[in-house]
Amino acid sequence: MKIAVVGATGMVGTVMLKVLAERNFPVTELIPVASERSAGKKLPFKGNEYTVVTLEDAVKMNADIALFSAGGDTSVEWAPKFADAGTTVVDNSSAWRMDPTKKLVVPEINGDVLTKEDKIIANPNCSTIQLVMALAPLHEKYQMKRLIVSTYQSVSGTGVAAVRQMENETKGIEGEMAYHYPINRNAIPHCDVFMENGYTKEEMKLVKEPKKILRDDSFAVTATAVRIPTAGGHSESVNVEFVNDFDEAEVRQLLNDFPGVVVQDNLETNTYPMPAFAHDKDEVFVGRIRRDESLPNTLNMWIVADNLRKGAATNTVQIAEYLVANELV
Ligand SMILES: NC(=O)c1ccc[n+]([C@@H]2O[C@H](COP(=O)([O-])OP(=O)(O)OC[C@H]3O[C@@H](n4cnc5c(N)ncnc54)[C@H](OP(=O)(O)O)[C@@H]3O)[C@@H](O)[C@H]2O)c1
Repeated sequence: MKIAVVGATGMVGTVMLKVLAERNFPVTELIPVASERSAGKKLPFKGNEYTVVTLEDAVKMNADIALFSAGGDTSVEWAPKFADAGTTVVDNSSAWRMDPTKKLVVPEINGDVLTKEDKIIANPNCSTIQLVMALAPLHEKYQMKRLIVSTYQSVSGTGVAAVRQMENETKGIEGEMAYHYPINRNAIPHCDVFMENGYTKEEMKLVKEPKKILRDDSFAVTATAVRIPTAGGHSESVNVEFVNDFDEAEVRQLLNDFPGVVVQDNLETNTYPMPAFAHDKDEVFVGRIRRDESLPNTLNMWIVADNLRKGAATNTVQIAEYLVANELV
């Protein structure tokens, strides 16, 4: 497979190269792509060095698959050009996610929606992916009615500039600000831009994307997204009301049995998911599983995953793997 990685020098792109190598994805030719600023730069991959090219050059190289993580504007302009050149695009930005003509895919949940005709495929938002991974088996069994999600999101979700801001602040160095406020020793209830309804775009992604992935818009969702000074992954406090009652032991079993989900939940040993330990792992970790005693059929849980792995690069590569395994490219 001739694989283009668009945004190869960025946070997600760097992990994408690592995940492609780790999972032994059948790459016969790698095309790392970034902005003109990075053209000519060398990037290592599986013991070789590859030269970063521009989008203009990359589109002519007719890759089989292009994995995009270079921002929404780049995707809007360039994904159709790659698709027209016969390349299947898996896109990490929010550009195509809610487009009714494009599939929004978490392979463990709805990989079966993909066909050969899908030339631009959307990867969901990082906080959505870990959320639906834990909800999918429970929704199937008990039917969600209402979901309240509050996020505690890593600075790595904003990109290299935000990680640099946090590092500078911890060292007392003045530098460029990726956020309006200091992030070190802070919690900023503002992820992505504000919308007319008073929610942020990140919060509305959490409201809309799960319904598309789970192919069900019968449940209600409300969200608050908060940026915190951590770098290892996103955490989510989730309160979910089901139509049907559940058994807590069965909930744990259903979660553990779901591919890619690991239950970490033992109060005697102080075992629960944390971003420092989810960092660099592909799994979604779930803990603090307990009944909400204030409402019938309602569950609380705490979900953590590395936003650059399952939240971005790993899920994108898994979509590519699904395409190859099912001969869709
Ligand atoms: N971070 C996350 O957790 C996460 C999760 C899911 C999805 N995403 C999405 O993935 C995308 C990238 O995020 P990131 O965190 O990796 O950002 P980042 O660290 O800032 O990296 C951005 C990448 O895009 C490239 N780029 C920027 N403008 C470009 C242009 N005009 N033409 C070609 N390449 C361009 C950059 O190249 P240069 O190095 O040359 O500037 C760099 O490789 C965004 O759409 C983001 O929403 C991020």
